[in-house]
Amino acid sequence: MTDVVYVTHEIDPSVHGSHVDTDLELVVSEFDRVGLDWAVAAWDDHGFDWSDARLVLVRSPWDYVLRRREFLEWARDVETLAIVANPAAVLEQNTDKVYLRTLASHGVRTVATGWIHDADDAGRVIARMRQDHGARVVVKPTVSSAARGTILTSDPLEAEAHARLVLAQGFGVMVQPYLEAVEAEGEISVVVIDGRPSHAVRRAPALSDSPDAAFGELVELTDELHHASCAVLHAAEAEDLVYARVDLVREADGALALMELELTEPSLFLTLHEPAAQALAAAVASRLS
Ligand SMILES: Nc1ncnc2c1ncn2[C@@H]1O[C@H](COP(=O)(O)OP(=O)(O)O)[C@@H](O)[C@H]1O
Ligand SMILES: [Mg+2]
Repeated sequence: MTDVVYVTHEIDPSVHGSHVDTDLELVVSEFDRVGLDWAVAAWDDHGFDWSDARLVLVRSPWDYVLRRREFLEWARDVETLAIVANPAAVLEQNTDKVYLRTLASHGVRTVATGWIHDADDAGRVIARMRQDHGARVVVKPTVSSAARGTILTSDPLEAEAHARLVLAQGFGVMVQPYLEAVEAEGEISVVVIDGRPSHAVRRAPALSDSPDAAFGELVELTDELHHASCAVLHAAEAEDLVYARVDLVREADGALALMELELTEPSLFLTLHEPAAQALAAAVASRLS
């Protein structure tokens, strides 16, 4: 049997940049170092024999967004054959950002969000958000990755039209104030391996024209970031997962708020902090022993 299958998406050689999983090479070389047999497969590779895997490490299935049901079904099926990390139930819960609502109800400071599940609510929810937090709003699907279907606008009619479009495509919609901090301090991702915060990365804003670095840069994992990320993991009962990423942004009053808790397919920015690749391989090995 193969100890661990690293799950990615079907790699299209014509696509570069953000579609390349920069973590993959480092992780498999760490698997080699600790003596784990490994394979790499796309989640939707029907020719792949999943029954041969002991542990299936879901890492970069970045094309699941338009096929979420199929993806979750795959994860549940594979879980009857192997350990899936993160577990299928976690993937199910984490691939729709409505989980932010649950976390907020457990006391986590999340980015202020209005939820639109019905086209009739769109105008009211958007007007309320603009009234409370200012004219610039972000409108995005609750199921997304890499800012797909996400817009920034100051025009309430454009915001409403976009919300209706996303609803018509079968997704829920969320509306947030545009947080200026993404442009200065940046969105900060705290990478967590096996329940322990490992390193922090400042990420470039996705919605502005700022000519910022496309990848990310290492920043200090301060006590504030450490505490904020641990509080999120605790509230989400996510402390025993192999990997997690806590994406934080500072709101206007100076407090850090949760933008996203990534338990499905976060880039872990391992090339910026290689000890995390060792920790990840050790976490996998411990689940196999
Ligand atoms: N409220 C917001 N204020 C500022 N930027 C935002 C906001 N919401 C999203 N963005 C930008 O869009 C990106 C993608 O949004 P996010 O909620 O992280 O969803 P996903 O990463 O799943 O696409 C963020 O990393 C950020 O750069
Ligand atoms: Mg994100």
